[in-house]
Amino acid sequence: MSRDGSMSDTIANSLLSGSLADYIEHDGASLLNRWREHQDWWDGRLRFGIDPYSKFTSSRIATECTASTRDGHTVSGVNFGSQEYLNLASHPEVLHAAKNAIDDFGVHSAGSAALMGNTKLSVDLEQRMAEFLGYKDCTVFPTGWGAGYGVIKTLVRPSDHVIIDRLAHASLHEGARGSTGNVHTFPHLSFEHAKTLLLKIRNDHPAAGILVVTETVFSMDSDVPDIAALQNLCRAHGATLMVDAAHDMGAIAPKGGGYLELQGCTGMPDILMGSFSKTFASNGGFVASNDTNLKLAMRYGCGPLTFTNAISPIQCAIISKCLDIIERDEGVELRSRLMENVLYMRKRMAESDFILFGQPSAIVPVILGDNAISRLTTHHAFELGGITNLVEYPAVKRDTSRWRIQMMANHNKNQIDKFVDIAVRARQNASSYLEVMSKAR
Ligand SMILES: Cc1ncc(COP(=O)(O)O)c(C=O)c1O
Repeated sequence: MSRDGSMSDTIANSLLSGSLADYIEHDGASLLNRWREHQDWWDGRLRFGIDPYSKFTSSRIATECTASTRDGHTVSGVNFGSQEYLNLASHPEVLHAAKNAIDDFGVHSAGSAALMGNTKLSVDLEQRMAEFLGYKDCTVFPTGWGAGYGVIKTLVRPSDHVIIDRLAHASLHEGARGSTGNVHTFPHLSFEHAKTLLLKIRNDHPAAGILVVTETVFSMDSDVPDIAALQNLCRAHGATLMVDAAHDMGAIAPKGGGYLELQGCTGMPDILMGSFSKTFASNGGFVASNDTNLKLAMRYGCGPLTFTNAISPIQCAIISKCLDIIERDEGVELRSRLMENVLYMRKRMAESDFILFGQPSAIVPVILGDNAISRLTTHHAFELGGITNLVEYPAVKRDTSRWRIQMMANHNKNQIDKFVDIAVRARQNASSYLEVMSKAR
């Protein structure tokens, strides 16, 4: 199965069944030595072709691409591993806008947004994003990660409380933990559990600030909470709701308003944040709110905005042009093609007895199982030209390793069929290999 031969039992035990969690918390006085076994473990996986991470591409991101592993092993194939949901990164108008921005503004923002790092392009973008999202105000960040982490850090003090979905993005959990020791996680999508926590905290701490944090489309499960129910709950008990719409804003729903639009909740959450890196062809993130005090609060008191260089003029020009496309008929057409592809992929994978999670979005989570079967299946898929990303424990629950297939508007049925055929063959090859290994024991 591997690129340089089959595995011995010992190697198989650590490489096929161990997890990152076994290697990330090693002790020892030497800070750098703590990472030695971690490195050895990853290098072992790489040697046997079961490290599907840290891949790089050598050309534009498209529905087919050439991808290389960390050691330069290169494969060409169908690409279901890029977050490029509407294929705007190579759109001629977007490329043109980026080139114009270079001519007009140069390539650099040259300062924090708190000083003079904003440009006319970023100021206009904030205004346009506010209108698109249905809010009075919007602030643009250099990354989505910084937007999520930063807004929580700005708002929440040590005596406040954060109630957060267990599967919310790492930036949100880290922001919560970095702000207060009072972080309460609730089981994924459990409204009842969130409500119980909120009632108790409000009862015990009448003067505390309480932030409730969730996402529209969850990035590992592609499922969606009832936003109106959460917002009403928060209003009833003096809490603030914050929602991360990184994966669906611009890409889903007739006007591109994501699941908020589909649920009739556009502009409803107290705070809406998201990322440009999935649909808007650029690094960057945003925080929108109807409370216009938030902008300067963040600009002067939010690490990932105040103490970092502002988003570049090139990125702003790209995002603005993407927004033009997203808002016009072409955007409607792209979203409808994306959704057609999502539904077709989900149907074809289900027909091939793969287990799928969640609701239709650009993310199609396909459950592969434990570490061994998922690593081997991913290895074979890659070698056969099926390029996608594996997510394993501790990023998801044990034995629910999955492919996070990412769909694009420009995928065609042949490419989807090809990927499904590869997936079926890869799963067969992996199962046969594990059967032989277990018989040999
Ligand atoms: C749900 C969610 N929120 C926020 C982010 C961070 O976005 P960015 O890539 O812009 O830093 C991501 C990206 O991984 C994400 O999946």
